[in-house]
Amino acid sequence: MTHPSSDRVIIFDTTLRDGEQSPGASMNLEEKIRIAQTLEEMGVDVIEAGFPAASNGDFEAVREVGRVVRNATIAGLCRAHRNDIERAAEALKGAARQRIHTFISTSPLHMKYKLQMEPDAVVQAIWDSVSLARNHVEDVEWSAEDGSRTELDFLCRCVETAIKAGATTINIPDTVGYAVPEEYGALIRAVREKTPNSDQAIFSVHCHNDLGLAVANSLAGVAGGARQVECTINGLGERAGNAALEEIVMALRTRADYLPYKTGIKTETITRASRLVSTITGFVVQPNKAIVGANAFAHESGIHQDGMLKHAGTYEIMTPESVGLNRSTLVMGKHSGRAAFRAKLKELGYEDMGDNAVNEAFRRFKDLADRKKDVFDEDIIALIDDEVGRQHDHIQFVSLQVVAGSRGPQHAVLEVTVGGEAVPPVVSFGNGPVDAVFNAIKQVFPHEARLQLYQVHAVTAGTDAQAEVTVRLEEGGKTVNGQGADADTLVSSCRAYLHALNKLLVKRQKTAPAAISA
Ligand code: KIV
Ligand code: ZN
Repeated sequence: MTHPSSDRVIIFDTTLRDGEQSPGASMNLEEKIRIAQTLEEMGVDVIEAGFPAASNGDFEAVREVGRVVRNATIAGLCRAHRNDIERAAEALKGAARQRIHTFISTSPLHMKYKLQMEPDAVVQAIWDSVSLARNHVEDVEWSAEDGSRTELDFLCRCVETAIKAGATTINIPDTVGYAVPEEYGALIRAVREKTPNSDQAIFSVHCHNDLGLAVANSLAGVAGGARQVECTINGLGERAGNAALEEIVMALRTRADYLPYKTGIKTETITRASRLVSTITGFVVQPNKAIVGANAFAHESGIHQDGMLKHAGTYEIMTPESVGLNRSTLVMGKHSGRAAFRAKLKELGYEDMGDNAVNEAFRRFKDLADRKKDVFDEDIIALIDDEVGRQHDHIQFVSLQVVAGSRGPQHAVLEVTVGGEAVPPVVSFGNGPVDAVFNAIKQVFPHEARLQLYQVHAVTAGTDAQAEVTVRLEEGGKTVNGQGADADTLVSSCRAYLHALNKLLVKRQKTAPAAISA
């Protein structure tokens, strides 16, 4: 990567690494690739695809994302350990642009209790790890974990060592979300000013949101001279999350008068990326979330609506279109044909779908259009998310009949195929219709997985809205999320459960000893 001009801010996305560390936000390989491709389309400069030494799944994710993505730099995270660095270098081999990102804690608290290392030993570890990483790749980032709670002189000594050993990016994280903006901006400035040769590296900020200050701290860091911001879509991440990419980017764009910096992000892709990450992880975006919340551009009060009608600028500081939200959301109906459907898919960013997936999605669209008067973009997105990558699922949904209501017993009649073979319909009872549906799945395909999350949300307004259901299952410490969408909430629930179960089956195969050593 070339050195940024003074006003260019590098966007480093860590949704696939720090974001995935959110409890329950696990993603499979195919989902990580979909997210990585979206990040690349957005114009993200660096994609942190995983922590290769942490698991075989992370190793594979970094390697495969590196194979698919050609424009963005791919980063693999590692501790200051020889094995971690060598695993990261191995995983990154096929990537067009490779970055090794190595870190070690530098705060007194972390050195004493977590690392149980003396400061001199930490400095030596920085030298050794960065030098080793530089033997493998030219682009090396070094991070001072818990940097914001590190003594300034020691931090400068660590940064000087990392730069001398060949680090090209220096990251000073606010790992525990403790900093406040003025203080954090001043810290970045002070480290740059006090460290010899600091101009030989790009400074980076990485802020957590424990006090709700991650974005404010990141922007203060940029004002203090950082030219890389580490962030995630929807602010996903450890505990309260990381700085939200969409908020950083739109703040820089909207307040360019005060914050004269540029990013390479095509902001019109933001809404699509936000929805994709939310659907895949099952982490619903809160309605009042800045930029991507359902209410971010809604004007409810009479005074505001009146102002908006007179001039949008009265209450709108950025346009919905600038983040990829179309004002006219009514798009398709039951008379729309296959060509219009394909054109719509293209417009929504689903260009690479295979013919079989498009045909099945079209069949479901027609079915939906018969049942639902207006089919919105959101409906089509939900259908596609329910379709992509499921053609080869081991257990496939065929049909579902449910008896619900106050006069029990509630029961479900479920038909599926297993391994391509039709299975006779099963009848199952339950404590309510959802329970009956899930019991039917257990009857047709016995398993021990535990349900951790069952969540329903309406894709659009109206009583005929599709229900998008997320089901999270856990088995042997591994969690997976499944999604389903349909105008019938029970069908969505069934599809979501089957989706999660199919993912678990793939996970089981992958963790079988033969697969691990392959
Ligand atoms: O929060 C943090 O300090 C991190 C580092 C590993 C960069 O995620
Ligand atoms: Zn972090």
